[in-house]
Amino acid sequence: MRKLNLFVAVLFFTGLSSLQAQENIPFVEELLQKMTVEEKIGQLNLVTPGGGVATGAVVSENVEAKIKAGQVGGLFGVAGPEKIKMAQDFAINDTRLKIPLVFGSDVIHGYKTTFPIPLGLAASWDMALIEKTARIAATEATADGINWNFSPMVDIARDPRWGRISEGAGEDPYLGSAIAKAMVKGYQGSDLSLPNTMLATVKHMALYGASEGGRDYNSVDMSRIKMFNEYLPPYKAAIDAGVSSVMTSFNDVDGIPASGNKWLLTDLLREQWGFKGFVVSDYTSVNEMIAHGFGDLQAVSALALNAGLDMDMVGEGFLTTLKKSLEEGKVSEEQITQACRRILEAKYTLGLFEDPYRYSDPQRPAKDILNIENRKLARTAAARSFVLLKNHNELLPLKKDVKIALIGPLANNKNNMLGTWAPTGDPQLSVPILEGLQKVAPAARITYAKGANISDDPELAKKVNVFGPRIEIDDRSPEKMLQESLDLANKSEVVVAVVGEATEMSGEAASRTDLSIPESQKKMIRALVATGKPVVLVLMSGRPLTIEEELALPVSILQVWHPGVEAGNAVADVVFGDYNPAGKLTATWPVNVGQIPIYHSMKNTGRPATSETFQKFQSNYLDAPNAPLLPFGYGLSYTQFEYSEPSINKKEVAQGESVDITVTIKNIGNYHGEETVQLYLRDVVRSITPPMRELKGFKKVYLKKGETKLVTLTLHADDLKFYDSQLNFVSEPGEFEVFVGTDSNAATKVTFTLK
Ligand code: BGC
Repeated sequence: MRKLNLFVAVLFFTGLSSLQAQENIPFVEELLQKMTVEEKIGQLNLVTPGGGVATGAVVSENVEAKIKAGQVGGLFGVAGPEKIKMAQDFAINDTRLKIPLVFGSDVIHGYKTTFPIPLGLAASWDMALIEKTARIAATEATADGINWNFSPMVDIARDPRWGRISEGAGEDPYLGSAIAKAMVKGYQGSDLSLPNTMLATVKHMALYGASEGGRDYNSVDMSRIKMFNEYLPPYKAAIDAGVSSVMTSFNDVDGIPASGNKWLLTDLLREQWGFKGFVVSDYTSVNEMIAHGFGDLQAVSALALNAGLDMDMVGEGFLTTLKKSLEEGKVSEEQITQACRRILEAKYTLGLFEDPYRYSDPQRPAKDILNIENRKLARTAAARSFVLLKNHNELLPLKKDVKIALIGPLANNKNNMLGTWAPTGDPQLSVPILEGLQKVAPAARITYAKGANISDDPELAKKVNVFGPRIEIDDRSPEKMLQESLDLANKSEVVVAVVGEATEMSGEAASRTDLSIPESQKKMIRALVATGKPVVLVLMSGRPLTIEEELALPVSILQVWHPGVEAGNAVADVVFGDYNPAGKLTATWPVNVGQIPIYHSMKNTGRPATSETFQKFQSNYLDAPNAPLLPFGYGLSYTQFEYSEPSINKKEVAQGESVDITVTIKNIGNYHGEETVQLYLRDVVRSITPPMRELKGFKKVYLKKGETKLVTLTLHADDLKFYDSQLNFVSEPGEFEVFVGTDSNAATKVTFTLK
């Protein structure tokens, strides 16, 4: 037996090395032969001269001198063909081997044409649209010299206290995987050597969205079963889609920080998943392993390299300590060479050795950036990201000649339209809501008043105003501002109040423990409703909010996230009915913070609540329901859709087979519109506790008024599989229930048996 194993091992390793040899790029191998250890280490160093967002304690110094000394592999926070060319010149003209730099950036939801925040884009459930936004983002960024994107961020987030929930697709691994794929395809296109495609980076590997208590950068502790079934799939989807690089996360995974976690970066990522690209740390995340308790800079840098990390972002632990670690036998030259090889291969794939100035075409920015078509897509994408949460008395859409009192601190505001992580966008180019409404409905008589500050708390204002004046506290007293808005409301036919979070109230390092609309605005909303005028709340936020009070008021609510550069136009398109909203929530909205974590794929428990009223010794709360305020997948339309009972093409399914579920859907309302038909699966009996239901399919369909369509969703063999207690990906025989409907509460079902 041992002999046989040895034989298999020999076969495997010879097979593997020849495979690797086959895949090695001769040009890169020749270059590596010429490189000194110092030059190789230089390639592992990623720096920023300060044009980006310094999110860590360290910033890069003497960047120019370091490039010229061959101590830099890549740069971020620099943009524009001229500046990029200048930096590239330092590498090409002043270093011995003339190895070109790679230029990175955080192009998270658009470059200069800022699209809605990713959580909003996800709410469109429209993969073609999401891919298109990524394509445009890549075209614009590459026109400005950038060829490496630190996106997509695919961290599953089930805790809206965590501000970075805004930056991803929400709570669901199935949807998150589809979006990860679409974004990688959009950024990378079909050929990375084209001048309008760029390397994508899937981040943050891994589990960053599960930071304890929703506090950013906090610890994560999670079972392998949960990881594999619920948190890892979107990273894997990006890798299967051919993503070029992976960024590690700040948190620990199984007690070891991701940037030094060999199981994560080598065993799983490379050996199990077959990832061939390069791994970059997050901003100083190597250095931060000192604070995590893993020793000094030399120790943590060696740990990171040995774990499988290739490039060190800003912290320069690699640059300053790897040589010493090599001399002391703590790392091997082969490891340094391997990391360097992966970075050179990425540069080769981009075509940089052929032409280091491929992305420095001074003609491109004027043509490719923020052009009319791109802005048009931003407007379309924003309208498609909006979620109609409530339409009281079918108040929406408004007539275009109505007399509107437009109220609220976000109603005539440019500084908060782009949303978090839009460092390359210019807030001043964004269309405020007031302007959009006026343009789309010139006959509407619109008056405007601010009505309230986003928050009256100067301390909060200080914290969120790091990148600009997001919360501006007015000189006028809150009473005076409110009175002004009430005067306008009383003279109007309808009130449109634009309320919610400032841009930097969500995003990185923006965790909140209270997810309600700030009190200053709540007071204003109450007073506006008390006028008796019909009220529309246009709600902006980077996360699910706790809006139990507002939802109970006689108001209509349109959730618009942070809509991006075309904010006002898109809001006007929807408010006046030029576009019928069809967005659906991709993260559950809790009743209160105490329900968190709350998501649609929770488990039944052994003592499930049997009724909505409190039952002693069942799994429930004394002071809140189990059900969320708004479920995953929820979103209304100006029209209504009627679903038939679903039908299934077979009641018995063999292993490996797929199964079709069909439903008839009819538009029974007064508007044309789109509906996202959703399919949820319950594996009734299995060897690890099953979720009550899991999203396993969706289709977005357009139906004219009165139109009926047959929608078929296919469950593929893999959709029935899960990772069992041995982490094998299996499907187990038995009964399955399939729910099809308008959101995750869909009640109609069919069943089948897997043989
Ligand atoms: C963030 C990353 C980002 C990096 C570089 C970090 O703080 O976590 O998502 O890519 O900064 O800007």
